[in-house]
Amino acid sequence: MKPAAASPAGFSLRRRLVWQFAALSLLLVVALFFAVRFAAERASRASQDAVLGAAVISVGDGIRAVEEELELDLPYATFSMLGAMGNERIFYSLSTGDGLVTGYDDLPQPQVTPGDLSPVFYGADYRGSRLRLAALTRRVLLGQRIEEITVVLGQTRYGQAAIARDTARSAAWIGLGFLALTVPVALWAARAVIRPVDRLAEAVTRRGPQDLRPVLHPAPRELVPLMGALNGFIARLRGALQLAETFIFEAAHRIRTPLSLVRTEAEMALAETTDEALRQRLRRMVRAIGESSRSANQILDHAMVLYRSDQFMAEPVDVAALAGSVLRSVRAVAEMRDIEMRAEGLDQPCPVLGDARMIEVALRNILDNAVKFSPDEGNVLLRLSRDGGMARIEVTDQGRGLVAGDADLTGRFRRGSNVGDVVGSGLGLTIVTEVAAAHGGRFTLSPRPEKGTCATLFLPLSSASA
Ligand SMILES: Nc1ncnc2c1ncn2[C@@H]1O[C@H](COP(=O)(O)OP(=O)(O)OP(=O)(O)O)[C@@H](O)[C@H]1O
Ligand SMILES: [Mg+2]
Repeated sequence: MKPAAASPAGFSLRRRLVWQFAALSLLLVVALFFAVRFAAERASRASQDAVLGAAVISVGDGIRAVEEELELDLPYATFSMLGAMGNERIFYSLSTGDGLVTGYDDLPQPQVTPGDLSPVFYGADYRGSRLRLAALTRRVLLGQRIEEITVVLGQTRYGQAAIARDTARSAAWIGLGFLALTVPVALWAARAVIRPVDRLAEAVTRRGPQDLRPVLHPAPRELVPLMGALNGFIARLRGALQLAETFIFEAAHRIRTPLSLVRTEAEMALAETTDEALRQRLRRMVRAIGESSRSANQILDHAMVLYRSDQFMAEPVDVAALAGSVLRSVRAVAEMRDIEMRAEGLDQPCPVLGDARMIEVALRNILDNAVKFSPDEGNVLLRLSRDGGMARIEVTDQGRGLVAGDADLTGRFRRGSNVGDVVGSGLGLTIVTEVAAAHGGRFTLSPRPEKGTCATLFLPLSSASA
């Protein structure tokens, strides 16, 4: 049987699963990178703010009033702690309501007046760097008045940014490591998901074309509707095939037999009557019955061949013996017109793997054509030989031959333009090509250079004899 053309392959479920898995993982890695960077920045800023806050308090604590003068004791140890993270730059300023007392006079001041217990934190750009600043107010008794002194301490945060960057980069590397792992994991997961589908497809493919039992292969719940639909199709196909089988066999009996009966009756009536007008009529009747009986036979044979090629069951067939028996049955018709039928190569068995009934019908059609299109007293030769791995059955005649302009004569109901006077339905060669295709062989019809036609049927030899 010819394998049905597969529908064009769509997307691959497996590939789609792997891609989706990998794309999702990549998205997660990017999200992880930014989340870790954000968290690391927050954590390091909080801890550095604590240090900066402690530093500004200790600077504030170093302010004293000595004999109506302000004195500042700068805590250098604290400053070196601030720079410990990286090569940070540190700025400070002490100012009163009257102006700068000491330090950098243009250092950005806080927007709000800071309290004297907990420092105020803010950020500002200063001298080309981004600074994090902490400010504090200290009250000092200077003689009779209380002086409010704002202490501002700022530092660059190069170290913090570097730490956040490094941490996020490490997280990204770990994420990429996971990503590399996701591809094999995704492949494995996709395979596990697809495996039941593969198994089901395998189970269905493994069965022969004749096996029309319902598919009862265990399948996951998601495939149950598909299995139901498949079994529905199988059941319908089984019903249709049964119907076709019944029709072919019943029709063969109920059409062929009565037709030949009617024909015999008409022929007998023709022999018995002497009335010329009635004889004319009976002759037309016999011819019409002959034609319809021939068409019915060919149509039924064609249906049988289609049915059997669908249900193709190959078994060893000896083509030599089969060709011999078909030749004998055709010879009876040939002898009536003095056509000599010869055979070559039938003395050796020639086993092919196929359906004997189909091959017989094909051979009968080829020989029938050779006889039908030969003149009285013509010659028909059947030659059987082996050609490569094929059995080659060649039937040559010296008949009317083919007309060069005629298109492919193997099509349904196609007949040559030179055969109008010969009864025929145009299905014989369709049947032959169908049989050849079902067996994996081929059929050719070619004119012979001298006179007549050469029909050649190739059928693959069974492997044991090839
Ligand atoms: N041996 C042959 N010699 C000449 N023409 C042939 C020969 N074999 C086939 N043909 C041509 O091929 C055409 C198709 O052949 P095919 O056997 O299909 O039809 P048919 O013989 O006309 O009808 P039937 O269905 O009754 O066999 C024929 O009508 C004829 O024109
Ligand atoms: Mg024919």
